[in-house]
Amino acid sequence: MDLNDKVAVVTGASSGIGKSIAQELSKKGCKVALASRSLDKLKDIGKGLSQSFEVEMDVTSNESVTTAFEKIQDHFGSIDILVNSAGVMPLTYLKNRKLEDWLQTIEVNVKGTLRCIHAVLPMMKKQHSGHIINIASVDGKEIFEGGAVYGASKAAVIELSRAMRMELSPDFNIRVTSIEPGTVETDLREDISDQELLDDKDYGNGEPKLEPKNIADAVLYATTQPDSVNVNELLIKPTGKS
Ligand SMILES: NC(=O)c1ccc[n+]([C@@H]2O[C@H](COP(=O)([O-])OP(=O)(O)OC[C@H]3O[C@@H](n4cnc5c(N)ncnc54)[C@H](OP(=O)(O)O)[C@@H]3O)[C@@H](O)[C@H]2O)c1
Repeated sequence: MDLNDKVAVVTGASSGIGKSIAQELSKKGCKVALASRSLDKLKDIGKGLSQSFEVEMDVTSNESVTTAFEKIQDHFGSIDILVNSAGVMPLTYLKNRKLEDWLQTIEVNVKGTLRCIHAVLPMMKKQHSGHIINIASVDGKEIFEGGAVYGASKAAVIELSRAMRMELSPDFNIRVTSIEPGTVETDLREDISDQELLDDKDYGNGEPKLEPKNIADAVLYATTQPDSVNVNELLIKPTGKS
C-alpha cells in the first residue's frame, strides 16, 4: 500500500512510541491526526510534520474519544489507519493492592483501545477498507512478577486483535496488526509508583532497549504491504534479550 495521502490517526502521539509512529508515517506522506491529552505537546510535534491535525483525546472518556474522532473526520474526511498507542504501565506487585493503578491500566490500555476501535469502525466499514494497529507488548505473552495487570491488559489487546481479524477482515476488508514490543526507551516506566517494585527492579542497569523508531518501522512494514497481505503480529525485542 502506498501511504501517500492516507489518513492515519495515532493515539498517544505526544510521546515515545506514538510520537515516533506519527513522525514516520508523516515522512511517508500520510496525513496524520495526533491525539492525546496534551494538546500543547501535540502542536509542537505537529510543527515538524507536513499535513497534521492535533486533537485532544482522553481515551478513558467515551465523550472525549467520540468528539475527537468527529473532529478528525471533519478535518480529513476519511480515516485509513488507526494506531492505538496510548497506554500506561504502572507496574505493581499484587500483594501491594494498588487498586487505582490496576483499574487505570485496564481503563487506558483495554477500554481506551476499545473506545477508539468503536469510534473508527463506522468510517472503515463504510469505506470497506482500513488498517488498525494495536500496540500491545511482549508482556501480553510473557508474564513476570509485578506485571500481572499490565500483562493482562496487553494479553487482552493481543486476543482482541485476533478476534478483530476474524470478524472485521472478511466482511469489511479491515486489516488488524498487533505489535508486541519488548523494552523501548520511553517515559513509560515513570508511571510506576510501587516503591517496593522499583527497589527490586534496578531499572538503571543498562539493559538493552529498543528505540521508538524501531516500533515505528514495524508500523511502516505492516502498513505498506499489498492490500492482500495482513501482518497479524510482530513481536520485537532488542538484540541480547531472549
Ligand atoms: N516503552 C516500552 O518499553 C513499551 C513496550 C511495549 C509496549 N509499549 C506500549 O507502547 C505504547 C506507548 O507507550 P510509550 O512507551 O510510548 O510510553 P509514553 O512515552 O509514556 O507514552 C504514552 C502515551 O500514552 C498517552 N496516554 C496515556 N494516558 C492517556 C489517556 N488517558 N488518553 C490519551 N492518551 C493517553 C500519553 O499521552 P498524554 O499523557 O499526552 O495523554 C502518551 O502519549 C503503550 O501502549 C505501551 O504499553 C511500550
